[in-house]
Formats: sequence, C-alpha cells, structure tokens
Amino acid sequence: MNIALNTQPNAPKGNVPKVLQSQEMEGGDFLSDVISGLRADRKSLPCKYLYDAAGSKIFEQICELKDYYLTRTEAHIFAENLPEIARTLGANVTLVEPGAGNCEKAEPLLSVMESPAAYIPIDISPEILHAAESRLQAALPSLPIQAVVGDFTAPITWEPNRLGNRRVIFFPGSTIGNFSCEQAERLLADFASWLSPGDGLLLGVDLVKDSVVLERAYHDDEHVTEAFNKNLLRRINRELNGNFDMDGFSHRAFYHPLRQRVEMHLVSLKSQQVTVAGVQFQFEEGETIHTENSHKYTQEGLTKLLARTGFTPCRHWTDNNNHFAIYYAEIT
Ligand code: TRP
Repeated sequence: MNIALNTQPNAPKGNVPKVLQSQEMEGGDFLSDVISGLRADRKSLPCKYLYDAAGSKIFEQICELKDYYLTRTEAHIFAENLPEIARTLGANVTLVEPGAGNCEKAEPLLSVMESPAAYIPIDISPEILHAAESRLQAALPSLPIQAVVGDFTAPITWEPNRLGNRRVIFFPGSTIGNFSCEQAERLLADFASWLSPGDGLLLGVDLVKDSVVLERAYHDDEHVTEAFNKNLLRRINRELNGNFDMDGFSHRAFYHPLRQRVEMHLVSLKSQQVTVAGVQFQFEEGETIHTENSHKYTQEGLTKLLARTGFTPCRHWTDNNNHFAIYYAEIT
C-alpha cells in the first residue's frame, strides 16, 4: 500500500500536513487475504483486519479487563518511570508511533518529553485515529501532529519526518508479540531503516510467565475477547458479502509453551459451509481459523532480536512481577 505523503525534510514547525490519508484502504487486499487464508489447509486470517472501527472499540474494552494485565502493567511501568524515560529519549525528538490507535499511551510521554519536535501516529483505523488526533491536539496545542492513516506493516513510500534532532519509534502494547518471529525481525529491520544512528526505539513487550496468567488474559469471562475475535467474521459478512453464522463458531485461546505464544482461534462448532464473495468454504466440526498470535519474550530473546536488527538496548524498565518490560534501544 502506498501512503500518499508529501513530507518535506526539515520543513519548519507548524508547516506539517495535518492528516495524511492512505490511498484508500484497498478492499482488494482484504478480499484476497481472506480467500487465500480460508483456502489454506490450516485456515487463518491476518490479524490486522481485527482492527476496524468496531474492533478497535472492543479492543479498548479488552484493555480494561481485570485479567488483561498487559495494558495496566505497562501503564504502571510508564507512570513509575516517566521522567526517567523522557530523559532517556532526550530533547527535540520526533516520536513516531506505528499502530497508535487512540494515542492514549503517547500522551503522558509527550507531555513530559522536553520540547518534542512532532508526533506521527500511524493507524489503520481512520475513525479512531482522527478522533484521537483532535483530542491530543486540544491537550497539547503546541505539538505538531502529523497523523498517517495506513498499514504500518506495508512498505512505506514516505519519508518519516525529519523535524527535530532525532526520531524515536514508539511501539508499546506488546504489538511486536502479534508478529511471528520472522515477521517481528523483518518489522524491526524495517523500523531500523526509518532511523539513523542515534535514533531510538521504545518498545513494550509482554514477558514469558505462568501459562494460567497468560491464558486468563485472552479468555475472559465477560466474552469481550471472544467478541473481538468474532468481529472479524462479522466484518467479512458485512464488507465481503459473507454468510458466517455467528453462533456456529466459538473463541479459543491457549498458551503454546514451545512457541512461546498465546494462540487465538475461531472454532467451527459443526460441519458447515460458508460463502464469502461467492466463494464457498467447507468447515469440519472442530476445525479452526487461526486469527491471532501473541508471542511472549524472555529478556534474553528480546535482546538478541534487537541486536539482529541493528538495535543496541540501552535501558529497560519492568514491573515487580516481571510480567512486562519497556525497552529503549538505539541504532548504533
Ligand atoms: N498486543 C496485545 C496482545 O498481544 C494486544 C492484542 C492484540 C490483543 N490482539 C489481541 C489482545 C487479541 C487480546 C486479543 O495482547
């Protein structure tokens, strides 16, 4: 996907285009990804499609769940260490946030950073991004914000803004965990390619821990995670003329210790046929669509991944239980 962006290097503050719209979120990609995912021997769907407006809203509810410790723990680590984290990032920095969503994590950070040069949130959901941008601009009126609607995993054809001294990519929420090991390595290498020596990466990662704690986080009693997962089927029905029976599938989440990840699936509760855009798919009873992974890292594994992609870890912060970690690494 091309992100139509016309950023001038070294453009003066205040002269930043307000909103940069991707060239249409191509429906074609969604359709062909769904068809090829459902045609495979082991059916799967790319997790990025979970985040339409409805999905992003449900995701905000997930973050409030008692058992979903990730958001709360990460926020706690930030709250405890905010001045030190801001000092580590330095002054006059352009903060770039891929997958920014409601931009709520960046706000406290931006408000203590020393004269941030600009904030560039990137998100696939235009509704969420634009609402967040207005809110943030009202809270921080002097901050140049340059929102980019787009898929940050697609090759970018724009030059990330060079305002200020340095750039720091902000990638919280353990979003890195939603990529396979190979994809995560490619993604961090892509991030490294947006950066120059001395630029940084501020990364939030969920750590390997007791499987009961992990599984509870992804299978809540209130069925919010289930609604999030099933929203993908609803979206296919709506946008791609599908006929998934919402009651014919259930949500399953389990921790796979060897792969170090929580896997999320939609399980077909019966033998059934589903049609999407005129194409028919057969589901056996018990057959699953694999919709999401959430990889967990050890500190050792993460340090190696950073090193392989050109980053040198400088500092990290964790909670008392070692459930979650925030890493700051730089390109050397
Ligand atoms: N990255 C977070 C995680 O892995 C958030 C997330 C992404 C999530 N997809 C999810 C949470 C699906 C619950 C269900 O936990």
